[in-house]
Amino acid sequence: MQKYIYGVDFGTSNSALAILDLESKQVVKLFTIPSLLFFKEPKVRGEITQIAVGTEAIELYVKNRMDGRFMKSIKKVLPNKSFIDTRIGAKLYKAEDLVALILKKLKTMADEYVGQEVKTAVMGRPVVFDENPERDALAQNRLEKSARLVGFEEIHFQFEPVGAAYAYERESVSHQLVLVADFGGGTSDFSLMKLNPGAEELSDRRKDMIGQGGIYIGGDSFDSDIMWHKGTPHFGRGVKEEFTPGKPLDLPLSYFQNICSWEKMNFLDTLRMKLSIQKSYNFSGKDFRVRNLQILIEENLGYSLFKEIEKAKINISNEPVTDFRFEQSGIVLNETIEYQEFSETIISENLQKIMNYLEGFLKDKNINPKNIDAVFMTGGTSLLKTLHDAFADKFGKDKLKSGDNFHSVANGLAYSYWGFVKN
Ligand SMILES: Nc1ncnc2c1ncn2[C@@H]1O[C@H](COP(=O)(O)OP(=O)(O)OP(=O)(O)O)[C@@H](O)[C@H]1O
Ligand SMILES: [Mg+2]
Repeated sequence: MQKYIYGVDFGTSNSALAILDLESKQVVKLFTIPSLLFFKEPKVRGEITQIAVGTEAIELYVKNRMDGRFMKSIKKVLPNKSFIDTRIGAKLYKAEDLVALILKKLKTMADEYVGQEVKTAVMGRPVVFDENPERDALAQNRLEKSARLVGFEEIHFQFEPVGAAYAYERESVSHQLVLVADFGGGTSDFSLMKLNPGAEELSDRRKDMIGQGGIYIGGDSFDSDIMWHKGTPHFGRGVKEEFTPGKPLDLPLSYFQNICSWEKMNFLDTLRMKLSIQKSYNFSGKDFRVRNLQILIEENLGYSLFKEIEKAKINISNEPVTDFRFEQSGIVLNETIEYQEFSETIISENLQKIMNYLEGFLKDKNINPKNIDAVFMTGGTSLLKTLHDAFADKFGKDKLKSGDNFHSVANGLAYSYWGFVKN
């Protein structure tokens, strides 16, 4: 009989693996890595591509002065039908190959820890990979292929917030109706569950799982919001180009839409787009902000800029005014962000979408927020004060609970294993 199984949470920003010991019935170890990849492409024919995963991806990317392919938020590729593959060096990588690199790293660490090759995994998946069922199925299919590629043979899928609910249930002592809210980098996922402490090993928990829902807005969306409001004006938003004298026009909106998520910045790194930006530069009277845009693209500075944005976003919860600074290759950004401005303007639209979604979700399940006994908030983005305050307003401060923001899902996924095997 197998002694261990793994709970695997492949996340937009971070991925985690929990080792469940089936004899002691405990998670005995947890590994976590950032979901990042870096490929150092060969400069000469025949040389092999160097691949780094997780924290090493950042290290190698910086060591190579941002020269190479750096990938973040790979999870977002999973439902993308038009992504067939990408060529890196001499090799074509499909979406599942990219994901497999991350899963492989985690699995190798865990297999080394337990001293055997574990073949069974409970894989997490967001409630909604994509609104479109076909793309949603494609995403899960690709994730399953990745799991097979790294050597898993028995693979179960579980909703991520259900995983978080299992983790919370283990810490609870009373029977309660709980809303589990998992705010990650890519998605905000919800699960309503009747807690039944001591029932974790029961197989059929369907009647306790009242419903799941999710929306494709997460921490990455708030980063984009900051970039839109505080970053894009430094890269030409608001600057005019004048092809016909006396008829000034705004620069194409697509420039700024693309730089608001750093992975889309690559779309500007094509000859056609570079020529277009060069033209905008010339016809804007060589405005320094358009030059900043050129430098941002040419020097591949997206990741470092978004790192500063994330830093500011994290600090915002702890102080009334936060600095957002970036200085590299002649680009100088020196902004401040006020907490109030952040909450009421910068992220308000996306935050409202999350709250509206949740309201519809509860209505749909016929649940009055008053009847919810506890709200378990998890995921990195749940640390955002604005979000916390919005939840306190809706449910009452005393009902809000939190746990281990970065490990709950993987932990609970592992514990949910019995639900798949016992009848
Ligand atoms: N202290 C903090 N305050 C606000 N946001 C934070 C904080 N720490 C991390 N984050 C954000 O949390 C997100 C990552 O959280 P998490 O690791 O739970 O996501 P994930 O599981 O990788 O994503 P998903 O579940 O959506 O696939 C990032 O957007 C990050 O910027
Ligand atoms: Mg997550």
